[in-house]
Amino acid sequence: MNIFVTGGAGYIGSHTVRLLAEAGHRVRVYDNLSEGHAAAVPAGSLFEGDLADEKRLVEGLLDGFDCVMHFAAHCSVGESMEKPEKYYGNNVVGSLRLLSAMRKTGVKRIVFSSSAATYGNPVKTPIPEDHPTDPINAYGQTKLDFEHALKYYAGAYGIGYAALRYFNAAGAAPDAKIGEDHDPETHLVPIVLEAALGRRDAVAIFGTDYPTPDGTCIRDYIHVYDLAQAHILAMEAIEPGKGRVYNLGNGAGYSVREVIETARRVTGHRLPVKEGPRRAGDPPTLVASSEKITRELGWKPRFPDLQAIVETAWRWHKANPKGYAE
Ligand code: UFG
Repeated sequence: MNIFVTGGAGYIGSHTVRLLAEAGHRVRVYDNLSEGHAAAVPAGSLFEGDLADEKRLVEGLLDGFDCVMHFAAHCSVGESMEKPEKYYGNNVVGSLRLLSAMRKTGVKRIVFSSSAATYGNPVKTPIPEDHPTDPINAYGQTKLDFEHALKYYAGAYGIGYAALRYFNAAGAAPDAKIGEDHDPETHLVPIVLEAALGRRDAVAIFGTDYPTPDGTCIRDYIHVYDLAQAHILAMEAIEPGKGRVYNLGNGAGYSVREVIETARRVTGHRLPVKEGPRRAGDPPTLVASSEKITRELGWKPRFPDLQAIVETAWRWHKANPKGYAE
């Protein structure tokens, strides 16, 4: 199939582009490179443009695409609480421009990167897809708002979609050719590995007074390749005018302290920590039930355990201590 991938130079997008290419699909990456990396994208596939630029989106979409995969988004929970305008502008307004460009060019399928942050504070764990959605940060709200738009666009305009609610993506390509590199980095796994490389003095723990066994937040980490595989399965299942929503996690929660402990084992480094206050917008625990995508689409993770996930990330970080800046 011909697939138009917004944000395909970013972390999850670039890993998905790689799997798509390996599976024989033709890919065009639409990215403004504000956060993504040209080096993460296969040669010849980059089409530079901004999500805010509908004319450019239409130009990019004109060559007969079967499906859009929409990764382009701002994705830091903490920042979204300080700069909600940035998040609404890109994640909602920009995404609506993409839908408009799809309508103008007749592209009728979209796989959307949604988030566990749409649930807010869970009332039950593991979280199934029919759990109430009540985001507690602006990031999660923007993802939920766009899911709602998709639902109405599907009914009115025949667009078919899959919204994939990722839990915590981590890890890197097993051959260490591409990996995670944000600037600034805000995500726990790469931060811990930067500390292992001596690029940070210590790992700050955001909150030690949560209602969890060791007082730190619990998250469900999922390998980026397993997420990528889910996009391909979801794309193949999309039906015109209909939507599907799937959670993606491994159904196992690890605390911040457990992630640091795992990284100590994997890297052999001491990894000093600095305990600090909570970060705004963080729910104490987020663990997925991915039973629905397993049952309906046969999704099966290749890297279900945290240690294997951290090992792939560590290989990338060791080989690329300055990320793509090397
Ligand atoms: N954390 C620290 N210290 C750090 C960085 C993070 O203690 O230096 C903690 C956070 O407070 C949180 C946990 O580690 O409790 C994981 O934080 P991340 O920033 O790595 O990830 P988040 O859980 O905030 O967010 C991620 C994605 C979002 C997604 C969300 C859904 O970045 O896009 O998972 O769970 F919405």
